[in-house]
Parts: sequence; C-alpha cells; structure tokens
Amino acid sequence: MYTNFEYYTPTKVVFGKGTVCQVGDLVKAHGGSKVLLHFGGQSAKKSGLLDRVKESLDASGISYVELGGVVPNPHVGKVYEGIELGKKEGIDFILAVGGGSVIDSAKGISLGLANEGDVWDYFIGKRAPSKALPVASVLTIAAAGSEMSHGAVITNEKNGLKRDFGADFLRPAFTIMDPELTMTLPDYQTASGAADILMHTMERYFNKEDNMDITDAISEALLKNVMEYAKILVDDPKNYKARADLMWAGSLSHNGLTGCGTAGGDWATHNMEHEIGGMFDVAHGAGLAAIWGSWARYVWKAAPHRFVKFAINVMGVTPGADDAETVEKGICAMEDFYRAIKMPTNMKELGVTPTDEQIEFMAASCHEKTGGANGAVVPLNKEDMAKIYRMAL
Ligand code: NZQ
Ligand code: ZN
Repeated sequence: MYTNFEYYTPTKVVFGKGTVCQVGDLVKAHGGSKVLLHFGGQSAKKSGLLDRVKESLDASGISYVELGGVVPNPHVGKVYEGIELGKKEGIDFILAVGGGSVIDSAKGISLGLANEGDVWDYFIGKRAPSKALPVASVLTIAAAGSEMSHGAVITNEKNGLKRDFGADFLRPAFTIMDPELTMTLPDYQTASGAADILMHTMERYFNKEDNMDITDAISEALLKNVMEYAKILVDDPKNYKARADLMWAGSLSHNGLTGCGTAGGDWATHNMEHEIGGMFDVAHGAGLAAIWGSWARYVWKAAPHRFVKFAINVMGVTPGADDAETVEKGICAMEDFYRAIKMPTNMKELGVTPTDEQIEFMAASCHEKTGGANGAVVPLNKEDMAKIYRMAL
C-alpha cells in the first residue's frame, strides 16, 4: 500500500554557468532590502566569488553587512553572533554563500531573528519556532542539500552536541547553483559531498515496506548517476558535466523527491553520524560512509527485499545463492565505491577511534535526541547503536 505524502519545494532554482550575477535581482524579487551576507572560512573570498556576489548586490541597490567565519559542523556561537548583528542592522534577508554549513548557520540566524528567546532551544526540541526570515544561497558544494531542504544542523561547541531542526518555513527562497563554483573544492570534500548525496536517497530508499515504484526508479537512477560522476571527478575534477550532475543530484536527493510515497525512510545512519560529527568534528559525508556498511549488515534481515533490490538495481551485482549472499555483495560493492572515491568504510579510516565510554555516550545521546529507538528498518535502541559503532571501528 502506497503511503500518502505531501511534497513542498518552494525554492526557486537558478542553475548553470554565470548565474551568480543574478543574485542581486533575485534578492530584490524576493523582498530583501538589507541583507546579511554569510559565508565560511576562506574559500568564497579566495575564489573571488564573494566579490562577484557583492558586485551584483551593489548593482541591484541592495545594502548588506558581512558575517564570515562559519566552520564545517557550524557552531551555535556563530549563529548567536549573526542574530545580534542582524538585530543591530535591521536585517530582513540572509544570503548564504557556501555549503551546507553556511546555509544551516544562515537558517539558524533566520530563526533567531524571527522569534524570541534562545535559538538553541529549537534544536534541542525545548520550544518550537513559528517562522523564519527568508534565506537564500549561492551554493559552492554539492553535498548537504540544505539549499532546498527544510532542515538545519547546528553544533553546540560548548558541549559537542550536534542537533537538527526542520520546518517547511525554513526552506530557502532561492538558490543559485553554478557547477563551476564547485571546481575549487578539495577532492576530499567533493567525495564527502557525494557520499552525503547518496545517503540522503539511501535513507529514504531503505524502509521496511516497499516504496512507490516511481520513487524507487528515480532513486535508483540518482544513486547510479552520482556514483558514476563522483568516480569521474576523482581523476577529472574540472569536468563540468560531472559537476553539474552531482550538484543537481544533491538538491533532488534532499528536497523530498526521493521520499514521496515511502514510509519516511530510515535515518539511523544520519542520526548516528551526527553524534560522531559533534564529538570528533569529521566531514559529514565521510562519517556516513564510515558507518553505513555496519548499519546495513546489522539491519538487513528486517527488510531483505529492499536490500536485495538495492544490490541488484543500484549496485548491479549478480544475485547470489540466497538473499544473504546477494545483500552482502551489494554492501561490499557500495564499500568498494567508497574506496574508489577515497572515502572511509570504517571509523579507523575516518581517522577517529572512540573509546568504549565515548561509544556509550554517542549511543545514549543519539537515543535521547530521537526520543527513543530510531530507524525504520530496525528501530535501534542504545545497545543496537553501540554495537553498530563497534562494528564500524
Ligand atoms: O569554509 P570554507 O573556506 O568555505 O571551506 C569549506 C569547508 O571547509 C569548503 N568549501 C565549500 N565550498 C568550497 C569549499 N572549498 C573550496 N571551494 C569551494 N567551492 O568545504 C568545507 C565543507 O563545507 P560544508 O559547508 O561544511 O560542507 P557541506 O555542504 O557538506 O555541509 C555539511 C554540513 O551540513 C549538514 C552536515 O551535518 C554538516 O554540518 N547537513 C545539513 C543538512 C540540511 N541542512 O538539510 C542535511 C545533511 O544531512 C547534513 O546533516
Ligand atoms: Zn546528510
């Protein structure tokens, strides 16, 4: 039986070479008059992108104040700084120039400017906001999908907790996606982004029940496309076609499309990875790659038909003697892919070695965050998650 669904993607997408010069007019068309220009560490400055954005804002008569310095796994401290600055300057629009971290930080600021009280409360589920200031992005990395998603993920640097909040009113007003902007990425970030894009669709693909057929078909095509082009980028990072496919896949993978007519997806791998990211500050996609195989091996028996379908339709393996063999071939093929793009397949390769105590902490913290067992294929309790973390060592 197909699951009812709602699909809401209000974000205007402006895609292709040279589209950055449209940013000023787009801000104006979306009602922005005083912009907070938000960006990361140094890449947008170094590449000259920030200057191009400012030129376009100037040409459209939009005034702005700048706030840079967003780090990967963005900090709530920077969000507070943005809220304070935004209040002082009378900001009515936030423009993120960067990747998921900058966009999420912008979303956090937009929540803080539109609602009263401590913004961190929204991320720990203490209170619920009702609105947000408009946010838009000039995207510089194909990865998190925040440019169209309803979510934001923020880390509290004081306690290492990484938490997310989602609401439709957080979906960005527009996004400018010029694949050429991603050509300056370090190889590791390109690959980590690809791993995250894959995972956003895999999370939705793996349900206990079957998904809508058309959704499975879209998901399978997307996964195969991302793997093909991510491999091309290992040797040919300036390949425009591959950059473009990856960039559009990143948005489609996380704007809700691959979740239509599904039971909602699993998301345990994401929930567990956010604990690793909060504690060890790793690149999100790499963290996902490091634990996915262990998760899959732990849960597949609860939904063998989904894992067999994945192995054959996505990973292209020939069926084994039984489901167990086919599923294992599929998981191994995905891990081979991760290795081919230099992504880790366990935590050692990721560069972290959590202690027993840290594993117990992450499992308990994840359990608390999700309000109990999490995951659609197998609802995982603390003990399950601790076992999966250990399998991934
Ligand atoms: O700070 P700069 O100097 O810009 O460097 C960044 C950063 O070091 C660099 N970079 C980005 N674009 C570049 C570039 N370097 C050179 N050239 C470019 N064109 O790449 C590094 C990583 O950037 P980041 O924004 O952290 O990457 P990503 O887009 O992967 O975002 C990861 C964050 O998004 C969250 C993750 O948990 C993580 O915190 N996620 C957000 C989601 C959402 N809002 O819907 C969903 C995801 O599942 C994810 O959890
Ligand atoms: Zn993700």
